[in-house]
Amino acid sequence: MTDQNEHPNTKSNDITIWDRIVRLCHWMLVACFVTNYFIVEPGRLYHEIAGYTAVSFILLRLIWGFTRPITNYASFRTVNLHIREFKQHIQHLKQRNVPAQHGHNPFGWLMIFAVIILFLGLGVTGFIMEEVDAFFGNSTLEWIHGTFADVLYACVLIHVAAVFFVQYKGRVQLLRPMLVGKRRITKKNN
Ligand code: HEM
Ligand code: HEM
Repeated sequence: MTDQNEHPNTKSNDITIWDRIVRLCHWMLVACFVTNYFIVEPGRLYHEIAGYTAVSFILLRLIWGFTRPITNYASFRTVNLHIREFKQHIQHLKQRNVPAQHGHNPFGWLMIFAVIILFLGLGVTGFIMEEVDAFFGNSTLEWIHGTFADVLYACVLIHVAAVFFVQYKGRVQLLRPMLVGKRRITKKNN
């Protein structure tokens, strides 16, 4: 990042990180998960609606990720899971300097893929339980479905803790871009 072109009084800049679709998908997934895990009765109509809504937003996010240009952080073409990337992210954390012009870190991408698979698994097992007569009330399937939900809950807890940890340790704004789309780059004192 260069300072040369900035107005002398400028203390900060905003850069766009997450577009509206990514943010919409994220907060809809949060709402659907909370609804189904904590609020409505499992298996009933509202549970089905929230479950299929979550699956729809997962599919939208997948289409979005496959069709965005590589210049958009939401694109799956930006994913790089080479061991070097993991080491570099740990290095950035140790140096307390995660670059502002960054999308998800490689650990984040792994978590995202796990979350996608779990939501799809919940949708498929839920659908089979409801719609395929032979599996109606099937206890094994119910157990698999419930386990997917519990593992997803564990992932979410780790995810939220990781967001706050990386934001603090790496001195990079993560929450604000997921809320309003933009990251504020403030000049560091060091
Ligand atoms: C059910 C709960 C949640 C689920 C399923 C979930 C899932 C996800 C997913 C799939 C992404 C990737 C976004 C994308 O590229 O499309 C993500 C990113 C993110 N989530 Fe969540 N999330 C949950 C709760 C939360 C909460 C409560 C917060 C706020 C503290 C949060 C903050 C963030 C942030 C800041 C990112 C971007 C991280 C980065 O910059 O790499 N999430 N989340
Ligand atoms: C966001 C996605 C979902 C979450 C987090 C979720 C979560 C849960 C949880 C925690 C249970 C209780 C499991 C247990 O008692 O061990 C459950 C049960 C169930 N879910 Fe889901 N679910 C989701 C999506 C769906 C979908 C899409 C359907 C199908 C339309 C569905 C149908 C059912 C059924 C039929 C049960 C069994 C209810 C019973 O015990 O009678 N779920 N779900």
